[in-house]
Amino acid sequence: MSPARVLFLATSGQVGGAERCLLSLTSGLDRAAFDPMVLIGSPGPLEALLHAQATAAMVEPLPPALRALSRYHAQTGASARRALAGAALLPGYLARLGRAGVRARPAIVHSNGLKMHYLSALLRPRWNVPLVWHLHDFPRSGAHWSDRALRLLSRAPAAAIANSEAVARAHAARFPALASKIAVIPNGVSIAALQRGDRAAFRARWGLAPDAFVAGMVAIFAPWKGQEVFLRAAQKLLRVAPQAKFVLAGDDIYDTAGHGGQRRALESLARDLGIRDSVLFTGFLAGEHEIASAYAALDVMVHASTQPEPFGRTAIEAMAAGVPVVAAAGGGISEVIEDGLSGLLTPPGDAGALARALADLHARPELRAALSAQGLARVRQRFTEEMVARQIETLYSHLLNHAPHPHPASR
Ligand code: GLC
Repeated sequence: MSPARVLFLATSGQVGGAERCLLSLTSGLDRAAFDPMVLIGSPGPLEALLHAQATAAMVEPLPPALRALSRYHAQTGASARRALAGAALLPGYLARLGRAGVRARPAIVHSNGLKMHYLSALLRPRWNVPLVWHLHDFPRSGAHWSDRALRLLSRAPAAAIANSEAVARAHAARFPALASKIAVIPNGVSIAALQRGDRAAFRARWGLAPDAFVAGMVAIFAPWKGQEVFLRAAQKLLRVAPQAKFVLAGDDIYDTAGHGGQRRALESLARDLGIRDSVLFTGFLAGEHEIASAYAALDVMVHASTQPEPFGRTAIEAMAAGVPVVAAAGGGISEVIEDGLSGLLTPPGDAGALARALADLHARPELRAALSAQGLARVRQRFTEEMVARQIETLYSHLLNHAPHPHPASR
């Protein structure tokens, strides 16, 4: 029997956590049983990264007005106007995406981002195969047009995957039609790939002394990722560890409303705090080896989200690389890290508490070693690429066996 085609829909071609999760999944899938193909809503590094792992991928660019619709709209006040401009472009894009989907002859459609959730729900009758929504984020809070739309459309998917219990609970509470269809399947990473990083080369390239204590964040620049909290904690740590260095690996990568302009703001905050010389901005790192090397170069990986983190992939990546993690408690992060065992948790937004945790780790190499050993063990136990791929394959098989109609691959 030929493998069942799974058509993945990725909203963005930029590579944030949701896209790294997709890359792990397409790389981990058993190709004898499933044949992945990815349609991407905007150009960016994702397409080439998929091609590099021999996954079929193509861009079907979302019109900018549609792409710019984001969860931050209510805050920017541009909501209604932008939504209308976006809505006018919807039929044309739906027709294009619909045709591309038909050409792909999928057995399953797997949507990986909010905008693609809407579009895939509208196209489900045309494609007529089981639809899976992969929920990577919390539903936005408060009444919002996108929430109402999602409530209506949430009848369409045959199943939804939530990256954490917290994300599953939040969706089940908000979208009753989805509640019984949600499976919690965490992210998975390749331990081998993350352990191939080159600490010495990364430090040499970025001018970090081999023996300096280095703490860093690997995260896209978004207001809620908490880079600002990290810089404030850095300032405090420098009082007790003046030689310490701080790395911000990431950049403004999403062009949706509410994102953008963060890099300049963070650079000027570092100057205002008087710590600019101790902070290194590497920009966006895309390649697997480059990212693994960035983790390897750190003595501590910091996660500082000021809002509950849906899952927190960067934490398991660091743990797989053998780097101790200090993370902001809440959401999915609290399901990943057992405080004091596989990492340290601090209250979100609390730069003082983060600085105290960093000072503790700076002073106690044996604590760092213990956390890193337990962190790696935790990833081996629950968050490997293989484990996660098997769970998702089981879900696919279940959907194919229970599909109300024969799927195209078997016709
Ligand atoms: C999103 C979430 C993040 C999660 C990632 C992968 O980026 O914000 O918490 O780790 O998706 O599921």
